[in-house]
Amino acid sequence: MKKFIITSLLLSLLSIGCTHDPIEISPPDTRLNWFNDAKFGMFIHWGVYSGMAGKYVGPSLYGIEYTEASPFLCSWSAEWILSQAGIPRDTYKKQAKNFTATQFDGNEIASLAKETGMKYIIITVKHHEGFLLYPSTIQPDWCTSTSGANGRDLIMELLTAAKSKGLKVGLYFSQNLDWMTEGSLGEIPQLYGGKYDIEKNRTYIDYTCKVISEIMDRYGEILDVFWWDIPQINTSQEFTNQLQNALIKHKNYNKRILQNDRLSTLANGDFATPEGVIIQKPERPYELCITMDGSWGYTDYANNKKTRLELLYEITNTVSKGGNLLLNISPKGDGSLHPDALKLLKEIGDYMQINSESIYGTEHSGFTHGQDFGRVTRKGNSLYLHYYVGDKVELYGINSPILSAKTISGRNIEYKKIPNGYKFIGLKKGEVAKVTFSSIIIDEGFPISNKMEETNLYAMSALAEGGLSINGFESGFVNYNSWINLWPDLGWLLKVENPAKYDIYTTISNGGPGKLEIKIESDDNARI
Ligand code: GLC
Repeated sequence: MKKFIITSLLLSLLSIGCTHDPIEISPPDTRLNWFNDAKFGMFIHWGVYSGMAGKYVGPSLYGIEYTEASPFLCSWSAEWILSQAGIPRDTYKKQAKNFTATQFDGNEIASLAKETGMKYIIITVKHHEGFLLYPSTIQPDWCTSTSGANGRDLIMELLTAAKSKGLKVGLYFSQNLDWMTEGSLGEIPQLYGGKYDIEKNRTYIDYTCKVISEIMDRYGEILDVFWWDIPQINTSQEFTNQLQNALIKHKNYNKRILQNDRLSTLANGDFATPEGVIIQKPERPYELCITMDGSWGYTDYANNKKTRLELLYEITNTVSKGGNLLLNISPKGDGSLHPDALKLLKEIGDYMQINSESIYGTEHSGFTHGQDFGRVTRKGNSLYLHYYVGDKVELYGINSPILSAKTISGRNIEYKKIPNGYKFIGLKKGEVAKVTFSSIIIDEGFPISNKMEETNLYAMSALAEGGLSINGFESGFVNYNSWINLWPDLGWLLKVENPAKYDIYTTISNGGPGKLEIKIESDDNARI
């Protein structure tokens, strides 16, 4: 068997967000049963920044005065606007009047999640700007009470609506980074990117524990997930313990409440949260969170809007590797959603209505590499083939007898045996085939022989390692073999039937400067 790896360094993009510790194996935990089965959730980033929509007019700490004629526009995720524009704290506070929530209806959002096929909702109760989305007595001057939302408890409105519809609920809480509160860990815009000393950090952590306590007083009895953030700036055992105890020693704490892995660099939590990059070989439950348009917080001009197919691909790609996908929505300051976001969610909901059997309750497909036609999810001895791209559906890496092959709505699908796999005929793009085998024994690899004229190795069927996201979906996957990437390795497994001279050609669709390396490895004594 030969392995061809094409390593390309085409574009280095600015990477924001977190790095996380290596995944550790943990014993099966029944508390995670619902989470493992859920597969699809809604993330909501909402705060004072939402009312600014990625644009700022006013003074900057860096000596610039932004004007209507020349405003500051976020060049990346808009919930970071305070930091990106260097907005002084007192000026940022005034923005709270634009956070009105007038169009926000917890019931509508919960119904939207449900109709989209999502099983749980995680909302930001406090992001890095420190603003609390409920009327706080601990922080009365920086919460809904002193905003255009006039003291509404937006968290309770959403959580109770979601619970009444059978959804699980969680709160995102930025415990380590808080740009508006003295003593926060991390780089603070008001200090021109400087940091507070350890004594100030201590006061801040004490204070944050009180906020956690208040959150638990109010919502602890109904919470299912506590979603911490910015672990990389908290390397202290003392702070980790304090924050952890504020949660788990609270009278309303229940073991039911799952925690992610972002409390600090010293805490593993119950599940991993890779950001933007799928875990190919997960060793414990994980949840991949993604945006719809490149920004977590609302902007008027987000320019990286994903299409229906791209989002479906992201869902099935994650689920095929045993993970959950947490898809973000970005309400505006008034709580309404952009029509494009609503349209996308509706399209996904329509798809899920028919095909959700291939998503919920599935497990890791067992395939490490992809398939050219799309992605494969698995439940027991059934594989679900999600057909997105190309002109044929050929599944490689399984030879067990097929017991039945049907679309999810029940139409029979013809199939025939091909070397190291099966070819399926009559499946339409966007459809899902449920193929039940007598057993699932996976032996991946493209059969290669010198009788074949050529074999194409597309990025879609590669094992993609390193930061990678797919590009070219806009025209319905036409360019599905083109990828925009952050230092990825693309690997394919080949089963070479006979010794011969094989020529390798590569096509690089990206015109930027870069480096391409091709490595060929062999796991036997074959001459390369
Ligand atoms: C990062 C970002 C943050 C976003 C989060 C979502 O931590 O700082 O803005 O909320 O990722 O995962």
